[in-house]
Amino acid sequence: MAKNDRAHFGSKLGVILASAGSAVGLGNIWRFPYETGNHGGAAFILIYLGCVVLLGLPIMIAEFLIGRHSRANTARAFQILAPSTQWRWVGRMGVLAGLLILSYYSVVAGWTLEYITEAVTNGFAGKSPADFIASFQSFSSNPWKPIFWLIIFLLATHYIIVRGVEKGIEKSSKIMMPMLFIIILILVACSVTLPGAEKGIEFLLKPDFSKVDGSVFLGAMGQAFFSLSLGMGCLCTYASYFGKDTNLTKTALSVGVIDTLVAILAGFIIFPAAFSVGIQPDAGPSLIFITLPNVFQQAFSGMPVLAYLFSVMFYVLLAVAALTSTISLHEVVTAYLHEEFHLTRGKAARLVTGCCIFFGIFCSLSLGVTKEYTLFGLSMFDLFDFTTAKIMLPLGGMCISIFTGWHLNKSIVWEEISNNGSLKTPFYKLLIFILKFIAPIAIAFIFIHELGLL
Ligand code: PHE
Repeated sequence: MAKNDRAHFGSKLGVILASAGSAVGLGNIWRFPYETGNHGGAAFILIYLGCVVLLGLPIMIAEFLIGRHSRANTARAFQILAPSTQWRWVGRMGVLAGLLILSYYSVVAGWTLEYITEAVTNGFAGKSPADFIASFQSFSSNPWKPIFWLIIFLLATHYIIVRGVEKGIEKSSKIMMPMLFIIILILVACSVTLPGAEKGIEFLLKPDFSKVDGSVFLGAMGQAFFSLSLGMGCLCTYASYFGKDTNLTKTALSVGVIDTLVAILAGFIIFPAAFSVGIQPDAGPSLIFITLPNVFQQAFSGMPVLAYLFSVMFYVLLAVAALTSTISLHEVVTAYLHEEFHLTRGKAARLVTGCCIFFGIFCSLSLGVTKEYTLFGLSMFDLFDFTTAKIMLPLGGMCISIFTGWHLNKSIVWEEISNNGSLKTPFYKLLIFILKFIAPIAIAFIFIHELGLL
């Protein structure tokens, strides 16, 4: 990738779509629905929306301005803006989080490839809901198959990172993102008209606050950071390739809106369908892999060609959405190794891919053959997910907001937000207030409450 010469994304739309490409991924379509299901539905969504507006958007703007001002990988960015201080550890923690997320994320991304093959070979035809549950379980606990796909997915990510994605990311995002959106809309329409879908819609729209406890807040906050790709310098790295005229506030707003919309729509596909065929909403990570094939079969029951086409298209687009996210995760770690340790880009990328395959294999096995080996009651897969999404990303976000709100020279902040005075900045004071007080206090409060830190 020619990104190390600090190239710019080609157009404003490209900037938005590449960042949205990082944000929109398995987090929206796979993780959001199962977290919503685990935490009781509508109330979780409301708290999630609060986290996006109050924490997500301000911290995204902060990451953007740190990245664009320093024009460096995330660890170096903090060194440039705060030389000889400990702030560089925030960037380094982000790099580590990126590596860990990429390892287990690729396991699920690999599953999408298996489902593409199933869809292409018409493997879903004529199956019942119970068959889908059984075949997912036998696939995900198989020692070899998921690992094979995990490796293929990481090699595809590797290939793009090494070849150069400047044009690749922008161009494919411009076609794939709108396509994904259209397919999602069609599937929502199919899902909400299935018999018995009302219960799923109610689950999404009628908040039951009696189910809200500390874990719901931690879950919603973690999901917001994960879904918006925040707290680990990913958008900071992308922003280092933004042009001088990119409006950071508007870009953050667009990315936030697109990401949230896709997640909510994914909920409207999964839950009506799950309730319709009697699958529990708290089925966990397998949720979309057992409900969606059902949607295709049932919604198009008299039209096998449409069922075939939609399932193939959906899983291809899901894999592409996952790929634009794995690229952004890989890029954070590769840029860091390449720039800080003077490795060639190819060597840096090989190191990252190798490490992720290694960890990924353990994560994958922990869902099957090594299921009994747990730490704090969590399998390795769940442990990676918990520590990154629920601890490292919010912690990184808290540090980024304290850094921008308290440490960073306000003239830099203003210069970046207003593009040197050429943009109006009606929310500037509010932004600083949130970064200084609201975000750090809210995150600390949720941590203290839920992780029992006091
Ligand atoms: N936001 C991505 C998704 O929703 C995942 C991701 C997390 C990507 C953190 C980059 C950094 O799938």
